[in-house]
Amino acid sequence: MNRLVAPSLLSADFGNLDKDIEMVNSSQADWFHLDIMDGVFVPNISFGFPVVAQVKRMAQKPLDVHLMIVDPDRYLEKFKEAGADVLTVHYEACNHLHRTLSQIRALGMKAGVSINPHTSVEVLNDILEEADLVLIMSVNPGFGGQKFIKNSIQKITRLKEMITQKGCKTLIEVDGGVDANNAAALYAAGADVLVAGNAVFKAENPTKAIEILKNA
Ligand code: DX5
Ligand code: ZN
Repeated sequence: MNRLVAPSLLSADFGNLDKDIEMVNSSQADWFHLDIMDGVFVPNISFGFPVVAQVKRMAQKPLDVHLMIVDPDRYLEKFKEAGADVLTVHYEACNHLHRTLSQIRALGMKAGVSINPHTSVEVLNDILEEADLVLIMSVNPGFGGQKFIKNSIQKITRLKEMITQKGCKTLIEVDGGVDANNAAALYAAGADVLVAGNAVFKAENPTKAIEILKNA
C-alpha cells in the first residue's frame, strides 16, 4: 500500500508561489498536484503552461497534472514539454480514452484517468490496464475548499477490488475535501495518493498538515 500526498497548488499563494513550492520541496509531500481548468469542462479557469513550466523549474518532486478540460488530446504534448510527470484526463472529456491514455504513456508520462462524483467506477473496468492511476473526484471539480462527498469511500473500495481482481498496479488517487479527518479512512479503503489543497495551504502550519496526512 502506498501513502502519497500531493498538495494542490490551486490553494497556494500565487503572489508567493516560490515560497509555497519550497515548503512542499522540504516537506514529506510526494508530488505537486496542478489543476488545469478551461472554463468549459468546469465552471472555473485556473492557469496554463507558463505556470506549470515555472513550477517545474523549482519543484524537486514529480508534477501530477490534473486536466479538467475538454478535448485534452490537443494538449498532451504541450503538458509533457511543460514538465508533467503524471498526466490525468477526465473520463467524461474523452471519446477515445484508450487512445488518449496510450498517447500519454507514449510521451513518457504516467497516464491517469479521473471520474466525477456522478460517474461509476465500473465504467473503468475495460481500461484499468491502460491507466497508471485513477483519480476519484470526491467533490464536483472546479474549486478548492468544498465538502468531501462521502459516497467516494465506497467508490475507492470497489475500485480497489477491481484493481486487485485484474492484478494490475493502477494507483488510486482521491481529490476534493481531503483532510486530517478523512485521510485514514481513505487509505484504509485503498487510496494510494491523497490530494489536498485547503487542508494544506490554509493550515496554520502547512508542513505539519502534510505530515499529518502522510501519517494518518
Ligand atoms: C478541484 C481540484 C482539486 C482542489 C482540491 O477541482 O481538482 O485538486 O484543488 O482542493 P481541496 O483539497 O481544498 O478540496
Ligand atoms: Zn485536482
